[in-house]
Amino acid sequence: MAFYFSEPSHTFGEYLLVPGYSSCQCIPSNVDLKTPLVKFKRGDEPKISMNIPMTSAIMQAVSNDTMAIALAKEGGISFIYGSQSIKDQAAMVQRVKNYKSGFVSSDSNIKPTTTLNEILALLKETGHSTMAVTDDGKPTGKLLGIVTSRDYRITRMTGDEQAQTFMTPFDKLIYADADSTTLPMANDLIWQHKLNMLPLVDKKQRLRYMVFRKDYTDNKTNPLELIDKKKRYIVGAGINTRDYAERVPALLKAGVDVLCIDSSEGFSEWQKITLEYIHKNFGDDVKVGAGNVVDADGFRFLAEAGADFIKVGIGGGSICITREQKGIGRGQASAVIDVCRERDKYFDETGVYIPVCSDGGIVHDYHMLLALAMGADFLMLGRYFSRFDESPSDKIRINGTYYKEYWGEGSNRARNWQRYDLGGDKKLSFEEGVDSYVPYAGSLKDNVNVSLTKIRSSMCNCGALTLAELREKARITLVSETSIVEGGSHDVILREKFSR
Ligand code: IMP
Repeated sequence: MAFYFSEPSHTFGEYLLVPGYSSCQCIPSNVDLKTPLVKFKRGDEPKISMNIPMTSAIMQAVSNDTMAIALAKEGGISFIYGSQSIKDQAAMVQRVKNYKSGFVSSDSNIKPTTTLNEILALLKETGHSTMAVTDDGKPTGKLLGIVTSRDYRITRMTGDEQAQTFMTPFDKLIYADADSTTLPMANDLIWQHKLNMLPLVDKKQRLRYMVFRKDYTDNKTNPLELIDKKKRYIVGAGINTRDYAERVPALLKAGVDVLCIDSSEGFSEWQKITLEYIHKNFGDDVKVGAGNVVDADGFRFLAEAGADFIKVGIGGGSICITREQKGIGRGQASAVIDVCRERDKYFDETGVYIPVCSDGGIVHDYHMLLALAMGADFLMLGRYFSRFDESPSDKIRINGTYYKEYWGEGSNRARNWQRYDLGGDKKLSFEEGVDSYVPYAGSLKDNVNVSLTKIRSSMCNCGALTLAELREKARITLVSETSIVEGGSHDVILREKFSR
């Protein structure tokens, strides 16, 4: 006879936190959101932690190198999507690892023979008035000089003059060595010499980076940024259970910090085989998350198979139609509660703590708080991040309002059959995700800051200054349908209705 769960399957919207005692110490600026990403033994430190409990989803419409850099600046991690060629995915990882905060690659490059008219056209295209003059016109060519708008006077020139006749030549430039100059050193030079930009060159005078004065404040305002020992941003990548023998070494070579098996359902032998292969062939230092599961048995299976973190969630994603299509899944809150209980049991038994990630289904910021209070160590978010400037999808204007495109990995558009692979044909037999729009929301930094401010504030209401304390102190109640209605504004007519 089938097994019946004794409780219905609940989701975050059905719960609230009941405030607890908060002391005067409980102020948002005292809250620390640091959280482990990968498993560790009792008393040890995890090899990787995050400064905020947020990761961006392994999806084409969400996690590319631009997203990864923006999120690492705020203290979280992106998992670059695996539904692309190994070469392209590794190149994205490499771009994140090569990115140096405050050090930018020159995007407006000209040759000594480029004419003023061509320079003006380039200025119009990029909006950048500082141009590097290199021998081959490439961003990494030999630096011969710099042209800025102060070097030419349009009204007194014909437009045919070549850059070499009016650029500031290399021997008159203040520059620095690309290998040994740190960002604070570069900023000191900028202030000392009243520069707008400092070029950094290698031993052969080839241009490597530029540091701009205008970026100075930006570089100072990322106190939680997540960096490795070499001060490079930390980045993750999704893998599948088919081509890991080739994909994993390429990603490791590119410098990836952590991997995650991306699958709609992870309680499977495929994942065990993949985890074992990676740990056997590349060592235990290579960290791999697995999932997704929705109950204690699934957690236990992946824990014993060697997963470094375990992802929870089936059918709750905003673009997900798995429950409708296949009738499998579980309310996200019930799944998180059940899995986290097992995680704690496993920790008591073995002394090994395996972080749990709540993946999908976050609609409101307070859902993040609930997932964390229910035991999740961190969250994976798709829709949330897809709305920002940094997501890879197009921004589209419809009836005067801006939207971003957001499509599921199980949609025909993504062509990611590996995520749903249960053996058999290499194709997607039916869709498990939709292709959609989400309201455009602006920059990642602004939105993440607002969400985290709310989380910190609610944690204070619960008397918790860390996520571990939140898990311990949280008092959570199910709410009736009527009290959900009571939770929004009600019995008033919103003023915006009259202004239409
Ligand atoms: P969201 O944050 O609610 O948008 O959910 C994002 C999560 O949905 C991802 O991290 C995946 O686990 C999951 N997901 C991504 N694409 C699909 C799909 O096409 N069908 C079902 N689930 C998906």
